[in-house]
Amino acid sequence: MGTADVGREAAEETARIVRKAVEAAVWAPSVHNTQPWTFGVRGSRVSVRADDDRRLGAADPRGREMLISCGAALCTLRIAIRALGREAETDVLPDPDRPHLLADVRLGTRTPGDEQDLRLYAAVHRRRAHRGAFRGAGAPPSLLPALKREVEQEGAQLIQAVETHTQEALAGLTRVAEHVQRLDPAHAGEAARWAPVPGSGRRDGVHESAYPAGSPRTEPDFPGRDFARGHGWGAQDIADEVQEVHETGGTRPGTGVILLITTPGDTPRDWIRAGQALQRMLLRAASDEGLAAAFHTQALEIPELRDFIRARFCNGRYPQMLLRLGVPLGPELDSVRRPADAVISEEF
Ligand SMILES: Cc1cc2nc3c(=O)[nH]c(=O)nc-3n(C[C@H](O)[C@H](O)[C@H](O)COP(=O)(O)O)c2cc1C
Repeated sequence: MGTADVGREAAEETARIVRKAVEAAVWAPSVHNTQPWTFGVRGSRVSVRADDDRRLGAADPRGREMLISCGAALCTLRIAIRALGREAETDVLPDPDRPHLLADVRLGTRTPGDEQDLRLYAAVHRRRAHRGAFRGAGAPPSLLPALKREVEQEGAQLIQAVETHTQEALAGLTRVAEHVQRLDPAHAGEAARWAPVPGSGRRDGVHESAYPAGSPRTEPDFPGRDFARGHGWGAQDIADEVQEVHETGGTRPGTGVILLITTPGDTPRDWIRAGQALQRMLLRAASDEGLAAAFHTQALEIPELRDFIRARFCNGRYPQMLLRLGVPLGPELDSVRRPADAVISEEF
């Protein structure tokens, strides 16, 4: 084989890994499934960019949740590249003059891809946001130290709300936030734009198959977003299964383990960190125990409530995500994504 052939083969292998890594990255969670990212590819380099047209103007004026979502995609990209056999040399916010350029990731030397990366990579397509109750108590206590380590590895911190009064307060603040947002036309309109009507062919947003028609109350009760808007939309079979658990006297629908992801500061770099930490934790939880998270970020979108949570429950660190974790009750919920081609561009 000539040198040119070797070079061509190496370039083809690089292109194949980049493609597969982006195909994995688009399966990251994003607020309202906005998928606010694009990927620029040049040879063995992938740039991750925020797509500001997809930012939630009412809920997320500063782009905090947009960057958390992009951070989750970046983490997935890095994990995929390593699982596919190359180092992922990452430079976060490499150019102060281009704030939407969130990261440059370069495929580095070959690596055997350690077992943990392979397991996290295998969980990328399996992981789903859950909306509703969990079976029993939530996550096994032995898993929590491992999840804390995953979060800390990305420069963020995980806080578990253990005390009953803390759990009640976080649930109450979520209820207040949800109430306020439902009454505010800007918020309600924005949520409606990202919750397509049943049968829609859109490949973004939160579709009917992604939330239950009737979510069971948990104790304490964390309300979900109002994706159905009083139309009775939602996956019906989930409600049926929960009903069955009640009728047969099975395990009571549980709230799960209540968690906050925090960061030391509140800058774009912290938001990207939080997103990477979130995705690493979710993939670890999905791969180890088949656990899923229900996200409740309504209160963190209202500055006064976020300040309160920061001061009272986060030791002054900035809360970035509030979620519940457990074994989902009901069948797996479905989600959609735009194809990789819609978000990749070749750069020259
Ligand atoms: C920053 C952020 C905030 C989110 N907030 C909520 C929320 O408040 N309620 C909710 O049901 N889902 C929330 N989600 C989950 C997304 O709606 C979900 O990731 C998206 O619909 C894609 O679905 P999937 O995660 O099942 O693939 C949030 C996700 C992110 C990244």
